Formats: sequence, structure tokens, C-alpha cells
Amino acid sequence: MSHSSNAIEPPIDTERLLLRAYGEDDADRVIDIQSRLDVIRWLGIPPYLPMKDRAEALVWIAKWSDLHEKDPRLGGWAIEIRETGVVAGTAMLVELPNGEGKVQIGWHLHPDSAGKGYVTEAALAVLSAGFASGLPEIWADMFEDNAASAAVARRLGMAELGVIDDPWYGGRSRVFRLTREQWDARFEQKVANP
Ligand SMILES: CC(C)(COP(=O)(O)OP(=O)(O)OC[C@H]1O[C@@H](n2cnc3c(N)ncnc32)[C@H](O)[C@@H]1OP(=O)(O)O)[C@@H](O)C(=O)NCCC(=O)NCCS
Repeated sequence: MSHSSNAIEPPIDTERLLLRAYGEDDADRVIDIQSRLDVIRWLGIPPYLPMKDRAEALVWIAKWSDLHEKDPRLGGWAIEIRETGVVAGTAMLVELPNGEGKVQIGWHLHPDSAGKGYVTEAALAVLSAGFASGLPEIWADMFEDNAASAAVARRLGMAELGVIDDPWYGGRSRVFRLTREQWDARFEQKVANP
């Protein structure tokens, strides 16, 4: 397998999903998701400000294309359910703040799309694309009481480093990491033990 530095090039198809760039047509759904305290209270650093209007949604959407343009290994993608066309949520690869280039995977769902395995399915595709693009490791960082997010990271087979004093966001966080060697080893094992 080649590990040169490549761009991630969505759309990416999975069994049930299409991971694709956000566009302006997604603004209403973006507002619906980003205005919910039960979603945004788990993301980033307080204060959690619910998204108010279309103007804010368009800024949020543009942020992802700007990020991907700046560093084509990074971005945030709409998780579209292929059967219905509904955007279930977002999967992303972004830098940890002041993380010396360390990259984390992130995810969130509209509550109407939870409990169906969509984030796990999307995140597997994002990890695969991230490692194929040349990332040596991918982190996941979450509030220590975010049981649903920790369950996703465990399902993905990320190595759990435990709850630590968070060097990037402050406070206490549960941190996971997956290296490209660990990722590749899964597939080598499968080949060795078909
Ligand atoms: C974190 C979050 C994305 C997890 O959502 P989720 O629906 O639990 O995760 P998945 O999409 O992977 O779905 C897994 C669930 O679907 C179930 N499931 C149903 N059908 C499935 C299928 N075909 N394949 C896999 N799992 C399936 C699983 O059993 C699991 O449910 P369980 O936890 O009750 O066992 C969601 O809780 C969320 O958006 N939270 C708010 C934002 C947030 O915290 N983001 C992370 C910040 S670090």
C-alpha cells in the first residue's frame, strides 16, 4: 500500500451512505442540527451557541470547503443516507487546536438519524481515506461523559488512552488514537487468516 500524501476526494460511497461536500442547499438541515443544544453541547469549547439563521449556516458550510482547499487531507463531510437523501450528520477530519499538526476525527448526528450505525459506517470510510491520504495517526477527543461518542470510537477499534488532562481543549477528556500501522495490521491479519 502506498502512503504518499494524497487528497481525500469525496464523494465517498459506503454501503448505505454517501459522504460528500456540504453545499448551500444543505443550509436548512445544517441549522436544524447545529441549533440543537443536545448536539452542540458535546462539540468543542463552551459557550455553546445554537446556530440562528441561514447566514450562519452558509458560513459554517463555507468553512468546510475552505479547510479542504487549504489542506486536502482534512474536511467535514455531509453523511447522506443514500436511500432517502437525508443528511444524517457530519464526519470530519480536523487538526487538534495547537496540536502540532495532529489530526482528529469528529462526528455528530441529527437525533433523528442516531442508533442506526451511520456514524460508525461513515467514520470507517473517513479513517480509510485519512490513512490513504498519508496521515500517520488519527485521534479522537471527547468529554469524559460522552458515552455515545466513546462507544463509536470503541466500535471503530481505536486505542483508548483513557481520561487525561486535555492538552488541546483543556479540562478532562477521553482520548483515543489509531495509527496507520494499527489500521493496516487489521487488513494484513484478515489476509493472513481469511
Ligand atoms: C456521538 C453520536 C454521533 C453517536 O451516535 P450513534 O447513533 O450512537 O452512533 P452510530 O451511528 O455509530 O450508531 C450506533 C448505534 O446504532 C445501532 N445500530 C442499529 N443498526 C445498526 C447497523 N446496521 N450497524 C451498526 N450499528 C447499528 C448500534 O447498536 C448502536 O446503538 P447502541 O449504542 O444503542 O448499541 C451521537 O450520539 C451524537 O451526535 N451525539 C452528539 C454530538 C457528539 O457527541 N459528537 C461527538 C463529539 S466528540
